[in-house]
Amino acid sequence: MKVLVFDSEIEASKKAYDILKENITENSTLGLATGSTPLNLYKCMIEDCKNGNISFKNIKTFNLDEYVNLEYTHPQSYHYFMNDNLFDHIDIDKNNTFLPDAIAETDEELNNLCSKYNDMLNNNTIDVQILGIGTNGHIGFNEPGTSFDSTVSVVDLTESTIKDNSRFFENNLDKVPKRAISMGLKNIMAAKTIILLAFGEHKKEAIDHLINGNITEDWPCTILQNHPNVYVVIDKAAEPTK
Ligand code: GLP
Repeated sequence: MKVLVFDSEIEASKKAYDILKENITENSTLGLATGSTPLNLYKCMIEDCKNGNISFKNIKTFNLDEYVNLEYTHPQSYHYFMNDNLFDHIDIDKNNTFLPDAIAETDEELNNLCSKYNDMLNNNTIDVQILGIGTNGHIGFNEPGTSFDSTVSVVDLTESTIKDNSRFFENNLDKVPKRAISMGLKNIMAAKTIILLAFGEHKKEAIDHLINGNITEDWPCTILQNHPNVYVVIDKAAEPTK
């Protein structure tokens, strides 16, 4: 695991973009994340594409997760987020962008959607997976206690995640979806290279576990210690105290 610490989020995101570029070709497959953390990285991708330095025309993407039954026209749905913050601004073919389909009437249907997404992931190799991290150490929406063998599944969000994410839902806990479909930890670990980003003091505890903690399902991020090619790109505020 390579840990890179920067003075600012902007510098860290630029470095993350350099690492991303070094590890892809023009027809690579990317694993993408949502949340506020990757936004500056996405801005780097947009700017570089607009300047004609890179094309995403033949790039394929798979996102980590999506809220269950949040309409894709809802600004906080991850489908909307990805279009709004990245896909609408680069030359990617949207037919090559995939997120878990998470709109269904029954749990059986949801489980079928999980299997479908899992099959798609098994048929593709993610060259670079971008990750953020929850304050409780979740990656994707794999909350504490998730099996290290997990594949795509319907997950219940923990109270702490619902609280963390309520800022995107008018600070109203009732408005935050309580379930999501998420790539499992096994899917994430299958990526060739992983770039995890984290900014701010509130991420320090999770980063401490990620880098220095025992490998345990109580801190899902610690599974990354078993991956051969992980970059942890953080700002000073998120750096664990030595
Ligand atoms: C969400 C997402 C994660 C993300 C995390 C951190 O719950 N499912 O993929 O990494 O929150 O979000 P933020 O980057 O906004 O701090």
